[in-house]
Parts: sequence; C-alpha cells; structure tokens
Amino acid sequence: MAKRSIRFGVIGLGLMGREFASAAARWMHLLDLDFQPVIAGICDTNPALFGWFQANFPTVNISTTNYLDLLASSDIDAIYCAVPHNLHAQMYTDIIQAGKHLLGEKPFGIDQAANRSILAVIEQHPNVFVRCSSEFPFFPGAQRVIESIRERQFGTILEVEAGFLHSSDIDPNKPINWKRMVEINGEYGCMGDLGLHVAHVPLRAGWKPHNVRAILSNIVTERLTKDGKKVPCETWDNAVLFCDVRTEQGDAFPMMLKTYRIAPGETNTWYINIYGTEQSIRFSTRHPKSLLTMRYTSGGRQTWNEESLGYASAYPTITGGIFEFGFSDSILQMWAAFCDELLNGHTGMRQSFYCATPHETAQHHALLTAALESQKSLRCVIVE
Ligand SMILES: NC(=O)c1ccc[n+]([C@@H]2O[C@H](COP(=O)([O-])OP(=O)(O)OC[C@H]3O[C@@H](n4cnc5c(N)ncnc54)[C@H](O)[C@@H]3O)[C@@H](O)[C@H]2O)c1
Repeated sequence: MAKRSIRFGVIGLGLMGREFASAAARWMHLLDLDFQPVIAGICDTNPALFGWFQANFPTVNISTTNYLDLLASSDIDAIYCAVPHNLHAQMYTDIIQAGKHLLGEKPFGIDQAANRSILAVIEQHPNVFVRCSSEFPFFPGAQRVIESIRERQFGTILEVEAGFLHSSDIDPNKPINWKRMVEINGEYGCMGDLGLHVAHVPLRAGWKPHNVRAILSNIVTERLTKDGKKVPCETWDNAVLFCDVRTEQGDAFPMMLKTYRIAPGETNTWYINIYGTEQSIRFSTRHPKSLLTMRYTSGGRQTWNEESLGYASAYPTITGGIFEFGFSDSILQMWAAFCDELLNGHTGMRQSFYCATPHETAQHHALLTAALESQKSLRCVIVE
C-alpha cells in the first residue's frame, strides 16, 4: 500500500523533539495506516543537536538554526514545535501564518494572553490544522475511562480526581533550568507544565470547571545555577485545584486536579479516578496494565475489579495484545491520531479520540489563570 507522506519540520530538538522523531522512525509499528510522517527539516538554536537527527533520518534535507527557514520551505507540510513556553506565541502564530499545519506543545502559550493571540491567528486560517500535544489519554486504560465517559456509565457522578505527579524536583541540589524560571516557563509554574495533561480528558468530557479554589506551593525557593551560584526559584512546584464542575447535561460534582513536581516516589504518574453511584473507575500510569472498576446495583456488593489490560491501543500495532504499553507507545498513538485527523478529518478518523484542540487549550488557560488569582486572593474564583 502506498503511504501518503506528511513532511514534517521539527522546531526544538530537545527532549520532546527527539520523542517525535523516534515515533516517526518506528511508524511501521502501526498496522494498516496509509499515511506516515517524514522528518524533512530540523531546527534548533543549538546546532550540536543536529547530529542525532542527521545520523538517523536520511530524509532531513533542511537543518537550520532559524525556524523561518522551515516555514519558507515548500518541502515542509507541517511542524512539530517543542520549544520553551515563552516562544510559543511568536512561533506558533508564524507557523500558522506560513500555512503549515501544527502540533504545538503545551501549555500552548506562556499565559492566557499568549494563548489568545495564537487562537486569534488560528481563527484567521481555517485551512491550517492545529492541535496540541497530550499523549497520556492514549494509554489503553485511559481509553477505557474515555469510553465509560462517552457511555455515561457512572450514574450520578460523585467526584472526579485527576493528576500528574512527578518528583523530578525533589532534589534541592538539582540545578535550575528554564522550566523553573518564571520568565521562560511562565507564572503558572507546574500547572503550565502538567496542567493540560490533567485537564484534557475532563475538558473533552465537557467537565469545564465553573469555579476553582487553588492551593499552590513553592517548595524549593532557591536553586543553584550550573556554575554553582544560588538564585531564586520562583515557579510553583505543586498545585491542587479544587474545582466545582457544572455540566450542560446538568451534572454537578467536585473535581480535584493535582499537578505536582515534587511528589515523593512518583516518576511520571498520570491518573484519573471517577466515582459514581452506579460505576466507579480508576486508572493510573503507575500501574499501566490495571484498570479498576466497580459496578454497584441496589443492595449489591461493592467490589473493585482489576482487569489486566494488555496492549489494547487505539490504533492497532504489531505488538501482541498481552504485552505492556508505555510512554513512547502513547506518543506514537498520539502522532497517529494527529496525522489521521489532519488527512481524514474529524469524522473520517480510524478511531474517534482526537488530540487536544486549541479550544481545549483556551479552556485550560482559563482554569489556570483563575487558579493563579485564587492563590493570590485566597478565594474561590469563577473560571471565565
Ligand atoms: N508532551 C509531553 O509529555 C511533554 C514533556 C516535556 C515537555 N513538553 C513540552 O515540550 C516543549 C519543549 O520541552 P522539552 O522538554 O522538549 O524542552 P528541551 O529544553 O529539552 O528542548 C527545547 C529545545 O528548544 C530549543 N530552542 C530554544 N529556543 C529556540 C529557538 N529560538 N529556535 C529553535 N529552537 C529553540 C532548545 O535549544 C532546546 O533544544 C515545552 O512546551 C514543554 O512544555 C511536553
């Protein structure tokens, strides 16, 4: 089967730029897709990062330190942009104005003003396809949670908890980097880094918070630079958002969203728990094979069932169904969804879960902006 190629330029060749390229390199892992991403151009201000791409991707024909070179090239159809948050607004708007499709990284603008400027340009370019990265909902357990939400299996929803916990900042001697600097990472701190991961599924479910009371913690207030100088570290490390959800279908329930950079014992744990009068469900990437469900009927027993999930991915792959699913698999699945929707549209996709939309990023910015205000004023704040 001849595959349709989508020629990608990658801007930002760090942690995430390489993850995408690696997913593109093992595209044959996915079964029966008639499209594929091709890494055609690369850009980073640090040319030392070109070597890995050039050695592994003979398809790269533009390597540049100036992203405008990729935007000017007729050999590039789409861009993956994975750069620090302070650059999102300028780069994303330039990319869209150049007519290139975009998968941008979260938080999709360093703050709400930046996010609004990106959305305004998207509005002016309806033929450009734009989505935001968020891969965790592609874990098989998360997909099952999404299916339960679609089928409204919960009865009355009592409570939702979702979070993203890691502990990469637990070491006070870890040197400061851009993700801990307000001017580059943004005032949201950990919420900007992790918030869309946590909010994506609830927002897709229509569970937009009406108001929020946030408690934000800056635990490590100083860090060392690479040359051993102590400097202030002003970003929020941990955030708990107590949200009051009221949906268009008339549901009303509390939702607690956690984004922690200092969660002892957690490396990269994404979870969602939904409790309802008829069914409850729990999934965490800490135990990626396990899905916990409890059905309750009047007078019946309340027993949690643990199902061993295996590799039941949204897009079928060569991996046997009994095997385990992991982070890089979720990246591969997300990219399949992006390319599928780009080529086949929302309704023509092989499966129905699409990547986070610009509108969903705007909803999450509204929540995070309200959370900052709540922390400042020690009040519950309406999410506009
Ligand atoms: N989806 C996820 O799971 C996930 C995980 C980590 C980070 N991210 C997001 O990805 C983005 C990048 O994060 P990262 O961890 O890859 O960061 P990183 O620091 O590893 O990489 C960023 C790269 O951008 C390059 N860069 C900086 N300015 C540039 C410019 N003007 N032109 C071209 N390149 C430039 C840097 O040299 C660096 O190589 C951020 O938005 C972050 O929030 C997403």
